[in-house]
Amino acid sequence: MTRSDHARNTAPSAYPQDDDASESDGVRTVPCPPSWRVVSEAMLTRWLAGRPVGRLGDMLREFGPRLWTADGPSVDFYGFPYPTRMVVARLADGSAWVWSPVALTPELERAVEAVGPVRNVVSPNKIHHLFLAEWATRWPAARLHAPPGLAARKPELRFDVELGDAPDPAWADEIDQVLFRGSFALEEVVFFHRPSRTAIVCDLVQRHDPAHLTGWKRWLMRLDGVVGEQGSTPREWRASFWRRHPARAARERVLAWKPDRLIVAHGACASGGATPILSRALAWL
Ligand SMILES: [Fe+2]
Repeated sequence: MTRSDHARNTAPSAYPQDDDASESDGVRTVPCPPSWRVVSEAMLTRWLAGRPVGRLGDMLREFGPRLWTADGPSVDFYGFPYPTRMVVARLADGSAWVWSPVALTPELERAVEAVGPVRNVVSPNKIHHLFLAEWATRWPAARLHAPPGLAARKPELRFDVELGDAPDPAWADEIDQVLFRGSFALEEVVFFHRPSRTAIVCDLVQRHDPAHLTGWKRWLMRLDGVVGEQGSTPREWRASFWRRHPARAARERVLAWKPDRLIVAHGACASGGATPILSRALAWL
């Protein structure tokens, strides 16, 4: 049995539907900021110290052709739950491309190995780095890709490449990317997986499940514009984009991809209609 055969036989085979793509029964993952607060380095550090909660799931779920997700546990920050998610893609060379990795468990390690050897690990923005070290330790030959600012912020991590608008040659034939510039607080790289026509968005668009929120927490997060199918960019982060022109140009590139599917790190993914969803979510630009 080849590695590909093994992967096909061990990975889940059903693509997720809209109504189950936001399940939070996954594995531990990267905390996300409570979006009504002003973004700052100090706050980001505190967010990253958030307490992981929720039960472990750990296995990959097939989202599209050669594309999988793994959900992490919600992270508690002052009582606010942030369910999160990672992505694994199998590139044409048989290797695994890993986006925003969550905490590595034996079950997740086996599932990712079934996809292929990890050769590239990507942090899409500078606050989704919490578990990079353990992935780098497990796959020392993997190259680590940092968004602008992260290598200086986390010098103890061994980054090989800084992400920009041009996709790395290792994945350029299959995955495109664009950097949302213009924020003094946080810039993010958005990806497009061509084989599945999937846009992969981290914190720039958040679609938290209102069923996982109650009372004033749900009210505050709705106020911040990050709940449900109308979810968007946290309002305080929008305010940090003092230069809108480069971010608007990035948005146009994303829409020009005409993605069908959408993966977000926090909340509901979409198995169709991604282009109008993103057009609406990024209309504030
Ligand atoms: Fe996040």
